[in-house]
Amino acid sequence: MMNKKKTAIYPGSFDPLTNGHIDIIERAMDIFDQVIIAVLHNPSKKALFTMDERVKMIKQSFNGDKCVLVDSFGGLLVDYAKMKDAVAIIRGMRALSDFESEFQMALMNRKLNKDVQSVFLMTGFRWIFTSSSIIKEAAQFGGDISDMVPEAVHLKIMEKYPKSAQ
Ligand code: PNS
Repeated sequence: MMNKKKTAIYPGSFDPLTNGHIDIIERAMDIFDQVIIAVLHNPSKKALFTMDERVKMIKQSFNGDKCVLVDSFGGLLVDYAKMKDAVAIIRGMRALSDFESEFQMALMNRKLNKDVQSVFLMTGFRWIFTSSSIIKEAAQFGGDISDMVPEAVHLKIMEKYPKSAQ
């Protein structure tokens, strides 16, 4: 019997991609044949980076890796997962505080489509306190966030917040 390629979706806002996200993607790549990083198109949520900027920064950070695809989606995540023939949705867990909302989201997704499993991966200890929003806040006031994001993201944040260029 032919072995079917197992695809997982890693969804998120990625405003912007952080080293914490990269840690989760690398762990997912150990388990799945292909990981699709899917950026949510959500017109009602104000983002710092445009969709094009977010997708481009992710592509630059995974330059040429054939197991990682970058895409954007709108609407229901489970519908997108089905369209991509994915078997799993990946979410990263940092601390206990992530659990409640992730649990709720996973149960809703299961109710909407029982065939797509939610898989939670524990982030590396180093990234426990890393989030896109805290990085943006620090950068806005000139904080050095260069070791928390990939180079492509750091350059782009410096464009948005020139004070963070240090
Ligand atoms: O990076 P984020 O903002 O924590 O990601 C949240 C995301 C994109 C995973 C979530 O908002 C989502 O899946 N949105 C799509 C709409 C949907 O399917 N909602 C029903 C499940 S709660």
